[in-house]
Amino acid sequence: MNQLENQIAVVTGAGRGIGKAIALKFASEGADIACVSRTAENAETVAEEVRALGRQAWALALDVSDAAAVSIAIDSIVQTIGRVDILVNNAGVTRDNLIMRMSPEDWDTVLNTNLKGAFLFTKGFARSFLKQRSGRIINVASIIGLIGNAGQCNYAASKAALIGFTKSIARELAPRGVTVNAIAPGFIETDMTAAMKAEMRQELLRKIPLNSLGQPDDVANAALFLASVSARYITGQVLTVDGGMVM
Ligand SMILES: NC(=O)c1ccc[n+]([C@@H]2O[C@H](COP(=O)([O-])OP(=O)(O)OC[C@H]3O[C@@H](n4cnc5c(N)ncnc54)[C@H](O)[C@@H]3O)[C@@H](O)[C@H]2O)c1
Repeated sequence: MNQLENQIAVVTGAGRGIGKAIALKFASEGADIACVSRTAENAETVAEEVRALGRQAWALALDVSDAAAVSIAIDSIVQTIGRVDILVNNAGVTRDNLIMRMSPEDWDTVLNTNLKGAFLFTKGFARSFLKQRSGRIINVASIIGLIGNAGQCNYAASKAALIGFTKSIARELAPRGVTVNAIAPGFIETDMTAAMKAEMRQELLRKIPLNSLGQPDDVANAALFLASVSARYITGQVLTVDGGMVM
């Protein structure tokens, strides 16, 4: 029996990397997927891969920080798909720089995408989750939100705030059986980490007890667990998927 048989999941940032891995993992476990991405082409490509697994998929191209666009997308999801069971707030960006050189624009872009985007989607689906007395929300944070990182004050602030947001919404929605959890990945091999220089990668590996970077599928497996019936009694938690970096 598939773990997510006939459930419907909305995954933001599903066009590539971790979001794509989550979309395909959920589909392989029986879920239909609304793939949200900034670029229509990526969203449609992943939706096609979901359909190839025998599930339904919808592609939506939008900027998750655009309140009007998110509202239109949520209305269309509710009208065309109907019920939604799982929301994965995964879309995220980095704009790294030391604080002395960080522009207000780079601060805003990161906070608006990583934090406001999750707020808009969560708010958009909260009413239906409360009404149906079920639902799973999974926010993809980062270990950088737990430990900080020089050159990433905007990113760290967005992910730390996303963790505080997760715990607050977990408390708000728990009385109706809706769970809200965060995953804090460490360093995962995606486009986001591809630009890392060789020396930096070596230095990083010394800090990872399991001695390798993670794969998108490692995060997707954690998301599957949190979305599954096995995690029924788990809410307000942060699950680190980082090879043991933070413990
Ligand atoms: N890769 C890592 O090492 C790592 C570590 C910790 C946390 N994370 C988090 O995991 C999530 C996914 O990261 P990834 O490594 O797959 O990155 P990625 O850059 O490969 O993919 C990010 C996805 O988010 C989408 N996206 C970005 N901004 C968007 C916006 N404004 N509106 C809609 N979609 C948008 C992109 O189009 C892309 O599909 C992010 O939240 C990231 O912060 C990644």
